[in-house]
This record gives sequence, C-alpha cells and structure tokens, in this order.
Amino acid sequence: MSIKTTAFNPERLAKEYDNQSPVAIIKLALANFENMAIAFSGAEDVVLIDMATKIKPDIKVFSLDTGRLHAETYRFIEQVREHYKITIDMLSPDAETLQNLVRAKGLYSFYKEGHEECCGVRKVMPLRRKLSTLDAWVTGQRKDQSPDTRNAVAVIEKDATFSTADKNLYKFNPLSNWTSAAVWEYISSNNVPFNVLHTQGYSSIGCEPCTRPTLPNQHERAGRWWWEKATRKECGLHSGNLKK
Ligand code: ADX
Ligand code: SF4
Repeated sequence: MSIKTTAFNPERLAKEYDNQSPVAIIKLALANFENMAIAFSGAEDVVLIDMATKIKPDIKVFSLDTGRLHAETYRFIEQVREHYKITIDMLSPDAETLQNLVRAKGLYSFYKEGHEECCGVRKVMPLRRKLSTLDAWVTGQRKDQSPDTRNAVAVIEKDATFSTADKNLYKFNPLSNWTSAAVWEYISSNNVPFNVLHTQGYSSIGCEPCTRPTLPNQHERAGRWWWEKATRKECGLHSGNLKK
C-alpha cells in the first residue's frame, strides 16, 4: 500500500467533494490511485468512460461478463471499446463453479430462489477476484437510482464489502449526486454512444433474464429483479448499500 493510500481519508474527502463535479472526483481518484479501474455495466455509466478518457486515455476499465447480458449490451460494450480505443477487461465467472450451479439448478434458478446465488457466481466472485488486484474502483452508482438502497451513496467511500483485513479498497461514485436527467443531458451534449436498449424502454440495464423495460413513471430499477422486493435490489456488487 502506498503512503498516499494510507493517508487517504474517504470520509473527509466525501464531504469536501460532495458538491464537486464528476470530473473533479475522477481526477481525485486518478491523482491518488494509479491502480484503479472503472466498472462498466454497459449502460449509461458510459459517461464515466467518456469523462475519464479525456483525462487519461488508457484508463483501466472492466465489465463483468455474466454470460447473460443482452446481445445489445455485448454489441454496445464492443462499440465503446472501439470508440474510445480502450482495453475492456471482460471478467468471466469461474467455469467449474458455474457449471455446477447450472447442473444442479438450471439456468433460471433466480426466479424461484432469488438472485443472490446466481449473482454470487456470475458477478460477485469475479468482481472480488478483480478488486483484490486494485486499490480503488469507480462505479456509476447514483442516489436517484434507488430511494430504497442508494439514497446515501457517498461520492467517495471505503468499500464496505470488498476491503479486507490486509487492504483497504476505495470506491469512487462520481455520479452519485447526478440525476438520470443530468446523465442523459451529458450523453446528448457530448455525443456519447449509448446502449440501444435505452430506446426500447429500458431505463436500467442488467442481465437479460433479470431486466425488463419500465412503464412510464415507474422507478428506473422497477425493471430489475422485478419479482423481488425493492429493498433487496442489490446484486452483491454494492451490498454495502443494504446495511445503510
Ligand atoms: S447492479 O448492482 O444493480 O447490477 P447497476 O446496474 O445499478 O448495479 O450499476 C451500478 C454500477 O455498478 C455501474 O455503473 C457499474 O459501475 C457497476 N456495475 C453493474 N453491473 C456491472 C457489470 N456487469 N460490470 C461491471 N460493472 C458493473
Ligand atoms: Fe444471474 Fe440474474 Fe444476477 Fe445476472 S442478474 S447474475 S442472470 S441472477
């Protein structure tokens, strides 16, 4: 761990940067952590890549390739890779663990048993492996995405889920205070490419079997794991939010 990392004070900086722009928060992340990466879901969090590549063209980016994303999302991730000329690490689930899950419970166990086990294998385990190699990560979480689980997301935090006894991991959420409207204003005024699913009624995009379009005036995460309670709609990537 670097001296800088040891001295890093997320609570103080979160207060100081709460009113600052996403770009200022990304710059702070880059100034403090060489070994950091953006987690890109293939949705409107593409704005983070647009902002970050203007500061550091070879910024590290990764996506969790659950194997269950929409075809449109895979095409979009590829479009982003080419558009920004970046490397995107596509993280696959552990083959044997996945094979055992599917053999035992089939391909749609989440509808009956809840999404935790499948998300655990397809998202959380690969993410944990990746994060163990990083000092900080950047996500596109926003407070307005979920009044139930995200209304307290700080712009900078110690990662409550993936820090270990040996190593603090820091999490930057530069868009936390931005609204969906602000994100879309940025996308249109900066000609940022976007996932075509957003033109088909999808306001939030996750895996294909666990995401559906939302109706007018429905909350944006209403289409995610729609058969489950709103207060549990976190897949383990951001489960620290559930404790707040
Ligand atoms: S989720 O936990 O419900 O799936 P959500 O779709 O709201 O998360 O996305 C919030 C942020 O989590 C994204 O902006 C991104 O930083 C990260 N994230 C979500 N899904 C992925 C993914 N498949 N790959 C990489 N990062 C992801
Ligand atoms: Fe599995 Fe659905 Fe979670 Fe994707 S969102 S990992 S398909 S439970």
